[in-house]
Amino acid sequence: MKKIVVLSGAGISAESGLKTFRDDNGLWEGHNVMEVASPIAWENNRELVLEFYNQRRRQLLEVEPNAAHRALVALEEKYEVQIITQNVDDLHERAGSSNVLHLHGELLKARSTFDENLVMDWRNDIKSGDFCEHHMQLRPHIVWFGEAVPMFQPAAEHCAMADVLIIVGTSMQVYPAAGLVDFVPQGCPMYFIDPKPNIREHSSLHIISKKAAEGVPQVVERLLSQ
Ligand code: OAD
Repeated sequence: MKKIVVLSGAGISAESGLKTFRDDNGLWEGHNVMEVASPIAWENNRELVLEFYNQRRRQLLEVEPNAAHRALVALEEKYEVQIITQNVDDLHERAGSSNVLHLHGELLKARSTFDENLVMDWRNDIKSGDFCEHHMQLRPHIVWFGEAVPMFQPAAEHCAMADVLIIVGTSMQVYPAAGLVDFVPQGCPMYFIDPKPNIREHSSLHIISKKAAEGVPQVVERLLSQ
């Protein structure tokens, strides 16, 4: 079975109603990302960071996967499919994708500030005073700017095994995620679906300048008919 690796970014969830990071003058829900997504922000303004992610979590629970998330599930009829997402939402999982790797963490999980391996499912607000079993504050299970990306290595290994790469809805500005394209075998067909595609030239690159809910089903249909 051929292997398809999908690298998704915020754009795939835009039509579900979740805002991207860099489309509105670089502001994310009215904040500079460094104000709310960095260890310094956590040190200096914990309440703001908690409230920001609490709002994102509440919003996530009100939205649904869209046609792009759903189309990727259909690929599993014919291919081994590995989703690598920069998104912290669970819309790929809710659509039904079997293999989803989250590079930047998950909004519906919390983790201990004492032991980073102590991670738990969390659907409610995280509040000051919510502690882990070691009586230490819980934080969102999100990779903030300046923090290590522990899932990068397994993601790179998947890319190295890809027969086809699909990239959807990402500005390709954040590393190391954007560097994953360098791990796919030379000549591997790549599809890039984004209304404002921004990617450097590669051999076998097909650019589809469309929104995800329209462009992804088209690419999926093409791959299923091959
Ligand atoms: P960005 O906000 O940087 O880029 C969003 C991309 O989605 C842009 O290229 C848009 O053109 C595209 N887009 C917008 N609407 C779309 C639609 N309907 N269909 C398809 N594409 C659409 O988001 P990311 O590249 O995902 O990290 O950002 C990468 C990382 O930066 C995020 O994971 C986040 C952020 O800081 C962390 O939170 C650690």
